[in-house]
Amino acid sequence: MAVRETRILTPNEIGEAARLLAQGEVVAFPTETVYGLGANALDPGAVAAIFIAKGRPQDNPLIVHVADKDQVEEFVQEIPDQARLLMEHFWPGPLTLVLQKSEKVPDVVTAGLGTVAVRVPDHPIALELLRRTGFPLAAPSANLSGRPSPTRAEHVFADLQGKVPAILDGGETGWGLESTVLDCATWPFRLLRPGGVTLEDLRKYVPVEYGTLAGQEQEAPRSPGMKYQHYAPDALVYLVTGDNAAAKIRELSESYNGTDERVGVMTWNERAHLYPALTVLNMGPQGDLETLARRLYHLLREADSLGLKVLFIEGVSEDHLGLAIMNRLRKAADHREIRT
Ligand code: TXA
Ligand code: MG
Repeated sequence: MAVRETRILTPNEIGEAARLLAQGEVVAFPTETVYGLGANALDPGAVAAIFIAKGRPQDNPLIVHVADKDQVEEFVQEIPDQARLLMEHFWPGPLTLVLQKSEKVPDVVTAGLGTVAVRVPDHPIALELLRRTGFPLAAPSANLSGRPSPTRAEHVFADLQGKVPAILDGGETGWGLESTVLDCATWPFRLLRPGGVTLEDLRKYVPVEYGTLAGQEQEAPRSPGMKYQHYAPDALVYLVTGDNAAAKIRELSESYNGTDERVGVMTWNERAHLYPALTVLNMGPQGDLETLARRLYHLLREADSLGLKVLFIEGVSEDHLGLAIMNRLRKAADHREIRT
C-alpha cells in the first residue's frame, strides 16, 4: 500500500475523522478498552483496508461497534433473552457478544462465519464518532498484527504510521485490555476471550462456560483470533508463577550475567527490590489488577524500547480481572510458563 502521511487528529477534529470514514478510509479511534482501527462495517472495500493496514490474517473476524443496543437488531438474526439481559447490564462497556449474523453484515467482516461480534463502546469519542458517521464501525485493535494492542495514540502511530490516514487521539484508554468476547450463539454461553467484564460479573446473570486453555485449543476455532499469538514483545518472555517466583527468576537470570543481553522483570512495585540486578518494569501497587491492566501493553512495548533480550513476568492470581491479564501474559510468553 502506498505510503502516506498519518495525521493525528484532536477530539475537536472528530468531524474530519467522520468524513474520512464516510469516504471509505480507515481511521484509528480510542475506546474504553484499547484503540480500534475503524472502517464502515457495511463497506467491504473499506473493511478490507483494515486487514491490509494491520497485516491481519483474513480468517480473523472483526468486532462491529454500534452507538446503541437498538442498532444491533439489524445485523443479527435474533437476540436471545439472556443476551439482551447482558446488553442492558454491561453496555456501553467492554463486552462483545457473538450472535447469528444477518445478511446485512458483509462476509469480509466475519471472515465468512455465520456469526457476528458486536459491542457498544463506553467512550465519549467512540460514541460521538459512531453517531456522526451513522454507520457501524468494524474495528479490531489498532496494532500491527502480533503486536500488543495500543493504549495510547503514540502506540498506534508507532505501528501504523504511513499505513492509515488518521489517528483520533483521545489520550490513554481506560481498561487497557481488549473487551470480553462471549459467544451467545451457543448455550450455555461460552467465554471466548476474558476481559474487563469478568467471568464472575457475567455469571451473576447467565451461566457461562469457560474451558481450560488446552480444551480451547482442541476445539474448532469458534474465535479464530485465539489461534494466533498476540501481544508479543521482541524479548523472549517467561511467565513465572507461584510463591518462589523471585528466587526462580534470579536463578534463571544468572545465566545472562557477563553477557551483554539485557534482562528485565515485570513485577509489583513492592517487589522491585527483590531484583537488584534486573531492569524492572513496574506493574503498580501490589495486587492492583486495574492498574496493571491499564499499564500492561505499555510495559510490553517498553520492553522493546529498552532493548530487553529476555523478560521475566511474575504471574498474578486468576480471579476477576486477573483472568484476562493472565490470558494476555500467556500469549506474550508464547506459553513459556514456569510454575514454582
Ligand atoms: O476491546 C476490543 O474488543 C477492541 C476494541 C477496538 O473494541 N477490539 C478488539 O478487536 O480487540 P480484535 O479484532 O483485536 O479482537 C476481536 C476478537 C478476535 O479474537 C476475533 O477472533 C474475535 O474477537 N471475533 C470476532 N468476530 C467473531 C465471531 N463472529 N465469532 C467468534 N469470535 C469472533
Ligand atoms: Mg487485536
